[in-house]
Amino acid sequence: MTPSSSCICLVGYLAVMSLLHNCFLCSVTADVDFLYNSFKHATDLSLDGSASILSGGALQLTNDSNNLMGHAFFDSPAQVVSGNVVVSFSTAFVFDIVTGGPGVGLAFVVAASKVLPGATAEQYLDLLGKNNLGNSSNHVFAVEFDTVQANGLLNKTNGNHVGVDLNSLVSNVSEPAGYFTDDGKNISVTLESAQSIQAWVDYDGSSKILNVTIAPVSVASRPHRPLISHAIDLLPIFKQDMYVGFSAATGKLASSHDILAWSFRTGGAAQAIDLSRLPKVPKPPAPPPSMSTVVNIVAVSCVVTLTAIVVAIAFALWLWRRAILAETLEEWELDHPHRLSYKELYRATKGFWNSVLD
Ligand SMILES: *[C@@H]1O[C@H](CO)[C@@H](O)[C@H](O)[C@H]1NC(C)=O
Ligand SMILES: *[C@@H]1O[C@H](CO)[C@@H](O)[C@H](O)[C@H]1NC(C)=O
Ligand SMILES: *[C@@H]1O[C@H](CO)[C@@H](O)[C@H](O)[C@H]1NC(C)=O
Ligand SMILES: *[C@@H]1O[C@H](CO)[C@@H](O)[C@H](O)[C@H]1NC(C)=O
Ligand SMILES: *[C@@H]1O[C@H](CO)[C@@H](O)[C@H](O)[C@H]1NC(C)=O
Ligand SMILES: *[C@@H]1O[C@H](CO)[C@@H](O)[C@H](O)[C@H]1NC(C)=O
Repeated sequence: MTPSSSCICLVGYLAVMSLLHNCFLCSVTADVDFLYNSFKHATDLSLDGSASILSGGALQLTNDSNNLMGHAFFDSPAQVVSGNVVVSFSTAFVFDIVTGGPGVGLAFVVAASKVLPGATAEQYLDLLGKNNLGNSSNHVFAVEFDTVQANGLLNKTNGNHVGVDLNSLVSNVSEPAGYFTDDGKNISVTLESAQSIQAWVDYDGSSKILNVTIAPVSVASRPHRPLISHAIDLLPIFKQDMYVGFSAATGKLASSHDILAWSFRTGGAAQAIDLSRLPKVPKPPAPPPSMSTVVNIVAVSCVVTLTAIVVAIAFALWLWRRAILAETLEEWELDHPHRLSYKELYRATKGFWNSVLD
């Protein structure tokens, strides 16, 4: 073998080894990492039901019509189990629930299929149906942002909570919506309030701790203490490849559910959302005038009407008095009209001034 041919051999060997090595790595760490600061030009999303991308760039899951269901999933599945261990994952998103109702709520979903098993609307959030709650073949994990109590049917904490759902809509853990300030204050957050709220869901595959944090986007920075920090083993729920996305539903009551931005990542922290670039949320229709406005309008028109009546009465009285006091000549005076009127007397005496009379 000449030195040059052995050199070519070595280069070829290294190239093949590096290819094999890369391929091996890519099959193990097929990390998913994406960020939508707006959905205006979004590709790689599958929408169904009432879900659509609005011209302003918001991903609308439902509008405020009744009995709607909408899903939006990232097209390709994410590998969330590797060698019998759940891969750590992290997501951040901004949502806005504009009430026309109150409505039902929305959920971040990790599911084995983009078509959820037996999903029905209303309190089931288009996630599951009443016949498959708790069925281990569902393979559905969700973090729900729920705005109804469902008449006690699903053991809801209250009509404004965040819950962790494992194959069921009876939440495994649930907390009234809110966040903690760094000095330990517990601030409640109204989910359905037409304000943009950011949520973070982080799962650590090795410690099996799930953290859920929310805060209105008006809050300067991400709260350090999560609203929910709970040990949950997702291994029985997850298959190797799962789809990530959102689900929302309306029922007899309805509100629109919009996602404004979303980032997701496996194997690391989700990219930060640029809050300065959030799409605008469609404005809710102007609310009907409040009771106090109605009361004010009635009061003002009463005052105006009363004033007009008083002025009219005063004017009529004045006309009447003028007619009564008008000097009328008696019949015998007609031939000799020399009577002095009060006005003439008054003028002549300069108002009955003493010096003139003297
Ligand atoms: C709300 O969404 C439904 C389903 O996509 C659609 O049929 C309906 O026209 C929408 N209503 C309004 C007011 O946009
Ligand atoms: C769970 O769901 C599967 C698939 O839909 C079904 O075959 C099974 O009967 C269900 N199990 C129960 C206990 O309902
Ligand atoms: C709700 O909670 C009660 C009491 O803890 C329990 O008996 C009932 O089965 C629960 N309902 C559901 C749908 O899980
Ligand atoms: C939560 O899920 C765990 C299994 O992950 C289960 O043992 C526990 O009973 C569940 N708790 C509730 C309240 O559903
Ligand atoms: C925070 O406040 C809510 C009421 O708004 C209460 O239900 C909840 O238990 C509080 N959480 C903590 C950890 O104090
Ligand atoms: C979850 O929150 C706890 C408490 O703040 C923190 O120690 C832990 O690192 C967090 N885990 C993840 C995956 O964010």
